[in-house]
Amino acid sequence: MVNNVLVVGGTGMLGYPVVRRLCADGYAVRVMTHNLERARRIFGDTVSLVEGNVTDPQTLSEPMRNCDAVYINLSAKMDIDSYDTVEHQGAANLARIAAERRLERIAMISGLGVDDEDSPHPYISAKVAAERALRECGVPYTIFRCCWFMESLPLYIQGNKAFLVGKQPHPISWIAATDYSAMVSNALRTDEAINKTFHIHGIDKMTIREALELFCAEVYPNVAISSLPLWMLSLMSKFSRRSEMKGFLDFMKYFEHHSEPVVTDDSDRILGPALTSLRDWTVEYKKHMDKEPETVAK
Ligand SMILES: NC(=O)c1ccc[n+]([C@@H]2O[C@H](COP(=O)([O-])OP(=O)(O)OC[C@H]3O[C@@H](n4cnc5c(N)ncnc54)[C@H](OP(=O)(O)O)[C@@H]3O)[C@@H](O)[C@H]2O)c1
Repeated sequence: MVNNVLVVGGTGMLGYPVVRRLCADGYAVRVMTHNLERARRIFGDTVSLVEGNVTDPQTLSEPMRNCDAVYINLSAKMDIDSYDTVEHQGAANLARIAAERRLERIAMISGLGVDDEDSPHPYISAKVAAERALRECGVPYTIFRCCWFMESLPLYIQGNKAFLVGKQPHPISWIAATDYSAMVSNALRTDEAINKTFHIHGIDKMTIREALELFCAEVYPNVAISSLPLWMLSLMSKFSRRSEMKGFLDFMKYFEHHSEPVVTDDSDRILGPALTSLRDWTVEYKKHMDKEPETVAK
């Protein structure tokens, strides 16, 4: 039975709520970070922290000592050069050590649409390769291919504007990190989630613009939504030295041209359904922001 869980990337936007949920559900949680000082600022002494860098396999065995499972929440932060190093090779390194340590489970967040084995897009191909590493490592695995998270919406706001890049015409489904965290926790408790790839959809389906309109109307009524054409971002990225900008452009181009696949599987029955609507999440976000503006801004 899984009790001791190592969360890699537990300081992340989507890793943090998973850590909180696992702790609340009674798991013994250890968070691995490659930035101990920042992790201490985030968690204080509420969880056990351990240093490790997924790009350096020698640092990964000790964090997994006495663990039953590892949950992976890695992100290359739109940096095109590190998609493969961090998300693919990092996951592969963890999978190898998890097998050496004979862990009971390895689980990982991935994305809806990560099913194109030949995708030329580095964001997708790194995730495809990471998923393959988990499936082939010999440790019972659980992969969560997730739709878009509601927590991404505040990232569009800069000053008094929300920037929408491209037309982004496709409706996508939106999930709250709290709902997803409950699913991860349930998955680690049941053998029914072993060797499964789940497709996680939220209950609302709307375009990014529609979601931003709803979010801004409630939380930032003075923020105007502006469209930035892809060609303009492309031009800006040519003159920019920041590889994140190229990564972001590539990412938005991908979603401009690919609609979200709708895959029905038994995730609702095994993991529990998504419960939070975008409207409810937005209302909660606003309440939290009124109470603790600094935490939300972080
Ligand atoms: N946002 C969405 O709507 C959405 C939808 C589907 C899937 N996803 C996927 O969800 C994943 C997580 O997203 P997120 O927003 O939580 O990312 P995030 O906030 O950027 O967090 C990423 C985590 O990765 C860790 N990390 C990075 N490099 C590392 C290294 N070399 N060694 C060890 N840890 C490292 C960081 O931990 P430390 O800095 O503490 O080491 C950080 O906690 C991404 O792969 C994303 O593509 C997101």
